[in-house]
Amino acid sequence: MRSLTREATLSPGNLVLPLFVQEGETKQTPIPSMPGHARLGIQPLLEVAKQAFDLGIPGVELFPALTDDVKDPRGSESTNPSGLLQRAIRALKQALPELLVITDVALDPYSSDGHDGVVIDGLIDNDVTLPILAAMAVAQADAGADIVSPSDMMDGRVRAIREALDAAGHTQVSILSYCVKYASAFYGPFRDALDSAPRSGDKKSYQMDPANARECEREVRLDEAEGADILMVKPGLPYADVIYRVRQLTPLPVAAYHVSGEYTMLKVAAERGFLDYDRCLMESLLCLRRAGADIIFTYGALDAARLLATWK
Ligand code: PBG
Repeated sequence: MRSLTREATLSPGNLVLPLFVQEGETKQTPIPSMPGHARLGIQPLLEVAKQAFDLGIPGVELFPALTDDVKDPRGSESTNPSGLLQRAIRALKQALPELLVITDVALDPYSSDGHDGVVIDGLIDNDVTLPILAAMAVAQADAGADIVSPSDMMDGRVRAIREALDAAGHTQVSILSYCVKYASAFYGPFRDALDSAPRSGDKKSYQMDPANARECEREVRLDEAEGADILMVKPGLPYADVIYRVRQLTPLPVAAYHVSGEYTMLKVAAERGFLDYDRCLMESLLCLRRAGADIIFTYGALDAARLLATWK
């Protein structure tokens, strides 16, 4: 009876697994603040991606963990055709051509300032950043990325990226925009994983104020008009009301990012014996689907996909 009357559903086909890649072909470095996740050399990255693919997860999103010596104020390493991320994309597309490779577009993994845009005199310069993001997206598409996902929150970047992709012949590459992204403390473990925390200041001048919901309509309208194919809300559960609003506002597919802090809260509470990780994870993901997310990015994607095989 419950199965016949259930409103929301969850399947591995709804999930995307975010992964961290690092130099050192076979190296794996556990991320202390994200139990169960590690920075992966390309070899282990391919193994984890294969597990995801075999479980029916359609895509992975890649984040490069770079050492300080390749970081600079303009993130120049991001367009290096033989840079770490570009090599990882090529290796994945060669090993698993049917697995979607989604790449993050923002300066922070490459920036010596740890910001998503270029810092000039202590301020983030939106317009100086746009061509850099566009070139980064083209470099990722050249390497084989199927979907580029700008997470930087600069204004006008979706259009800049779409035009640059089209001009480079990448008309088939889609844009998943981190459209409604809040200045959230729930990104803490992710910034540990990449060592990408801002070296000074915070991200409040470009990411949204957690107090604001109505503002999401402006972000949605702009990204739709600029050519985004999928719109994301981030973080996930604390912003379920915003996911619901975005779902009502747009016919485009909606994604939610169940971010690092949300994952770590469950893992660590479970390690201490206070929460049932499996059930809390499945409930969190189902709630994101109920709120209106078509697609969920989650560090628990492999766990969820395995659990779904027998879940009632
Ligand atoms: C940065 C980026 C962040 C995340 C994805 N892309 C962090 C930030 O904006 O500081 C966070 C993901 C997570 O916490 O899981 N462009």
